[in-house]
Amino acid sequence: MQTSLEMRSPADLRPAAPPRIPADLTPVPPEKDDVNRRLYRGVGAAHAWTDRLSWTPERWAAWTASVTTHRALAAVHGVPCEAGFFELAVQPRGTVEIVIFGLLPDYHGLGLGGWLLTRAIEEAWALHPDGTRRVWVHTRRLDGPAALPNYRARGLRPFDALVSALP
Ligand SMILES: CC(C)(COP(=O)(O)OP(=O)(O)OC[C@H]1O[C@@H](n2cnc3c(N)ncnc32)[C@H](O)[C@@H]1OP(=O)(O)O)[C@@H](O)C(=O)NCCC(=O)NCCS
Repeated sequence: MQTSLEMRSPADLRPAAPPRIPADLTPVPPEKDDVNRRLYRGVGAAHAWTDRLSWTPERWAAWTASVTTHRALAAVHGVPCEAGFFELAVQPRGTVEIVIFGLLPDYHGLGLGGWLLTRAIEEAWALHPDGTRRVWVHTRRLDGPAALPNYRARGLRPFDALVSALP
């Protein structure tokens, strides 16, 4: 089961409360594909994120050059630690997809997911060179139990549900 959600106006964003630990967002340079690779594996290990496990280094490099990535840093005892990430892809007709979104397991349940999604949506509305007109994301059944509620809580609305043999 896969659910796709969209937002068609920035006014529909419902920002989350601030996270319960200090956090910051930093852009990841397009050539730093090691960051995307590491976080994809770390965030997705418990959620059957397997699509990219067979990617070659060349494919990773091409992919990360084609998307906009941001990384979340959370302060643990004052030390900034890598906590999660999102990737945004510019698509035709003013569309931006949140392709990947998530936190490493140690950082769940601290209010970081709501904050990070708020920031991802804000970045998406500012990203498209022709002006963003639509932001969308999809989530699958094996994603975390907070994934779909978080998307809905931030104001994204389901527009499609696909039942498939895939997780
Ligand atoms: C989804 C994820 C980002 C949520 O992060 P989090 O820090 O645990 O969530 P937060 O504490 O910030 O809560 C954010 C929202 O999630 C929902 N939520 C939180 N805990 C929940 C729970 N136990 N059950 C259901 N919904 C929950 C709420 O809607 C909440 O928003 P609200 O407080 O404004 O109502 C995180 O669990 C994660 O990365 N999971 C693994 C990867 C994943 O599934 N990514 C999404 C792929 S599409």
